[in-house]
Amino acid sequence: MSELTINDADFANLRGQTVVVTGSSSGIGLETAKLLLDVGAFVVAGDVNPVPIEHQNIAFHKTNITLWEDLLGLFELAESKHGKVDHVFANAGVAPKTLFVEDEVDENGKPVPPNLSVVDVNLKGTIYTVTMGLHFIKKQKKGSIVVTASASSFQRFGCTDYGVAKHGVLGLIRGLHLNLRVLNPSIRINGIAPNWTETRIATQAGTEKIGAKMQGPDVPARSAALLMADETKKGLLLFSVHGRHIEIEEALLLKSVNEGLIREYLPEEEFAFDKLADVYISRLPKKWS
Ligand SMILES: NC(=O)c1ccc[n+]([C@@H]2O[C@H](COP(=O)([O-])OP(=O)(O)OC[C@H]3O[C@@H](n4cnc5c(N)ncnc54)[C@H](O)[C@@H]3O)[C@@H](O)[C@H]2O)c1
Repeated sequence: MSELTINDADFANLRGQTVVVTGSSSGIGLETAKLLLDVGAFVVAGDVNPVPIEHQNIAFHKTNITLWEDLLGLFELAESKHGKVDHVFANAGVAPKTLFVEDEVDENGKPVPPNLSVVDVNLKGTIYTVTMGLHFIKKQKKGSIVVTASASSFQRFGCTDYGVAKHGVLGLIRGLHLNLRVLNPSIRINGIAPNWTETRIATQAGTEKIGAKMQGPDVPARSAALLMADETKKGLLLFSVHGRHIEIEEALLLKSVNEGLIREYLPEEEFAFDKLADVYISRLPKKWS
């Protein structure tokens, strides 16, 4: 586990780069868009709501991330305006809705299926954004994707639909990191994991009741921009908490799984998952890039 200090100079190479940002009209996405504009990047913003800022370097496409056609329109706008996509910030998301213990029944007393709308946006929509992003970034053979995971990606969280989706998002980052490592290590994927952050999803009034301390959306915004800018950052998860930035993925993987379990009990299998990824990649039907 290591704490990072993020300086404004760290964002310098984002100048002139094209960044597609989803969930750009509020909270963490909006703050990241403003930061990117400040450092001279071009932002192509996608959200179900209009983006509330005007700037010569921002373009907006109304986008529901659960709709493939909307996302295609967003990325095609980026390509037509700037000729390329350098980075994607897959950030759009919604608040929890169901705990999966509601046990709702219909008028005949029969159980009805749970509401999966949060999983639909926060997981399916994020997978759509990332796979669409890869299609466009691949053309440059270089670039990065940053995905908004959450502190709920790696711990018990009773808002079950949200926690399920955010665990899935961490799985997406981990899986794609292994694959990109082989396919093209110049295309990177990383995640941010904000702790309580004051936005439309998480309000001060709500978190006060549970004794949690808020940070501003500028904190995860800086962690997202750093992961785009720093080409050495690959497959990481930056936890932002109380204004601090802590890399936790290496610690989660190495300590609890590899060192603690696999190395001790199954030392010969230490690299089995990496090798499995290599096998699946070798079976891909066409050359990737
Ligand atoms: N606020 C927190 O404490 C916190 C903590 C961890 C993770 N997150 C994550 O941060 C991300 C951003 O959320 P936020 O906290 O800034 O909340 P927010 O509500 O302020 O911003 C979310 C944005 O996503 C947009 N959006 C929602 N559904 C969409 C869809 N289907 N298609 C396109 N856009 C859509 C909203 O219109 C909004 O502009 C989310 O993925 C959220 O899960 C937030």
